Amino acid sequence: MIPAIVPFRIKKKSIEILNQRLLPHTVDWVSCKSMKDVFVSIREMHVRGAPAIGIVAAYGYVFGALKLMKKNFSPKLDEVTALKEYLDSARPTAVNLMWATTRMEQIFTKLLAEKADMGAIKETLFLEAAAIHREDEESCSRMSHAGADYIASKWPGKKLRILTHCNTGALATGGIGTALGVIRILHQRGLVEVIYADETRPYLQGARLTAYELKVEKIPMYLIADSMAGFLMKQGKVDLVITGADRITKRGDVANKIGTFPLSVLAKEHGIPFYVAAPESTFDREMEHGDSIPIEERPAYEVLEIQGKKVAPDVPVLNYSFDVTPAENIEAIFHDGSDKVFRSAKL
Ligand code: MRU
Repeated sequence: MIPAIVPFRIKKKSIEILNQRLLPHTVDWVSCKSMKDVFVSIREMHVRGAPAIGIVAAYGYVFGALKLMKKNFSPKLDEVTALKEYLDSARPTAVNLMWATTRMEQIFTKLLAEKADMGAIKETLFLEAAAIHREDEESCSRMSHAGADYIASKWPGKKLRILTHCNTGALATGGIGTALGVIRILHQRGLVEVIYADETRPYLQGARLTAYELKVEKIPMYLIADSMAGFLMKQGKVDLVITGADRITKRGDVANKIGTFPLSVLAKEHGIPFYVAAPESTFDREMEHGDSIPIEERPAYEVLEIQGKKVAPDVPVLNYSFDVTPAENIEAIFHDGSDKVFRSAKL
């Protein structure tokens, strides 16, 4: 099932990206007709959320490869490598981006070696991007159902109070979402009492995007300031925490939106289980430890301003976009692979 809310639309010669910077009050579609347009939309966070970034980058790769072919029908290896390096540099933490561009590069390199014609290259690359898109939709559905099954079996018949962070729904993926997908399925089964959505400073993914998705889905919720989570947990008002991920290492450390790690510490302190939901494309099978994950730093104005309005004096700012939650703080990772390395809910 493709949800009504989608982060992008595929057109014949372009990809239209829903400008998430302006949601929920303004609906504006950014038309991307080149790899550079896609790069800018990813870097500027018109589109965001690790799986959505990967899908959009795959379509962006098609534009880049075709432009390169028009310039030089037999491109050199370093010109091909440059396509991937360029797209990958848009946002360094979400490994789904590199995963998608690696897939695209492998196909493109193979087609070049086979001396395929332009038409075949265009069609095959487009089909690969569409496959990445479709697989993510299917993966969201599988992990959401499996996560909901696991949670439902742990709290049989109980209506749950669930805390989540950032936006992990339809706006962040090619399907119903990851953590928010699990929440949707639990709600469909009548197992949600309330969702506490962290507002998620500074970009306000929770306040602007998760609140919007939950409202559309009529899922009961409270929007909370990020700093309120500990107080709610102390009062016994949170049954479980579930978030998404931008990169999961071999030992199960999870990079996710800044503020996720302190939530996991609070959950541990209060004996509240902490779950993560993520597709196969979020697993970095080369990286052992979370300390090695590159952490994106974003511009100061995102913290100094809210929706273009200055809220702080001009002072130095630290704006790390992600933090890393160690595997020890995570009870289970809901995913759609079968690798036993990850402590997982039997998916
Ligand atoms: O900076 P963002 O909005 O791209 O960060 C998004 C997150 O941290 C999400 O939790 C993560 O990408 C998983 S989305 C299914």
